[in-house]
Amino acid sequence: MQRTQRYAVHDEYDGPVVQVKAATRTYRNGGDVVHAVRDISVEVPASTMVLVQGKSGSGKTTLLNLMGGLERPSSGSVVYKGREFSRYTRRQTTVWRRTEAGFVFQSLALLPGLTAIENVDLAARIAGVGPREAIRRAEYYLHALGLTARASHRVSELSGGEQQRVAVARGLVTEPKILFADEPTGELDHALSRRVMDILRAVVDEKKTTICLTSHDPAVIAYADVVWTLSDGAITSMQPRSRDSREGSSE
Ligand SMILES: Nc1ncnc2c1ncn2[C@@H]1O[C@H](COP(=O)(O)OP(=O)(O)OP(=O)(O)O)[C@@H](O)[C@H]1O
Ligand SMILES: [Mg+2]
Repeated sequence: MQRTQRYAVHDEYDGPVVQVKAATRTYRNGGDVVHAVRDISVEVPASTMVLVQGKSGSGKTTLLNLMGGLERPSSGSVVYKGREFSRYTRRQTTVWRRTEAGFVFQSLALLPGLTAIENVDLAARIAGVGPREAIRRAEYYLHALGLTARASHRVSELSGGEQQRVAVARGLVTEPKILFADEPTGELDHALSRRVMDILRAVVDEKKTTICLTSHDPAVIAYADVVWTLSDGAITSMQPRSRDSREGSSE
């Protein structure tokens, strides 16, 4: 209870889940200045799958990290359910990241010495899920992602595509209100990409989760409710997709 109050999440809140307001993110490397995100203002409605697409280096990971509170904008602001991230204390940010949000990192960031199931179970336990429920969920998501036979293998022994699916299972196991998934199908073949995207789509439709993901893969577009295209740090188009067009083009 107390925890919930500390990061002030309002379940009755019915505005956009994330609001990015005139956000820029600039990196300075010595004398070089990189404008990774340039003056972006966007909103993510609840229970929506937003796909951020664009060429390598266009700013997809940077925008996702800003929306997920992992990075602070150089100027502008990012607001989660009506509250600016800059007003969260470090502790509130940590609790938010563990419980309200889920992340699938482009770099995966798994613990290589632990098994697949230990990685997934640990994320649930850290989020406060009880031990029996944590293991039940870990088994469920690993099974859904076709990893039951690999569950007790160390991550360091798994293929890139298997590791990526472990990272997806870890992102989902806390049943977050919002999932940030950076290229979650980048290492997968077409059939496995579809399997992952079917699961992510079902989570949006059935659990009302909000998902922000990035991808280079044209097949992923068919699953999204809205597609934002980034070019050189700026959004060049925002295309809503109707359920009909999704279902029509996913075949
Ligand atoms: N920590 C950093 N320090 C300096 N420059 C950075 C940093 N992170 C990203 N950049 C630069 O910002 C730009 C956007 O990077 P970003 O990782 O957001 O692109 P991306 O669209 O996710 O690319 P990819 O498809 O290759 O993952 C790039 O030019 C990148 O080199
Ligand atoms: Mg990236």
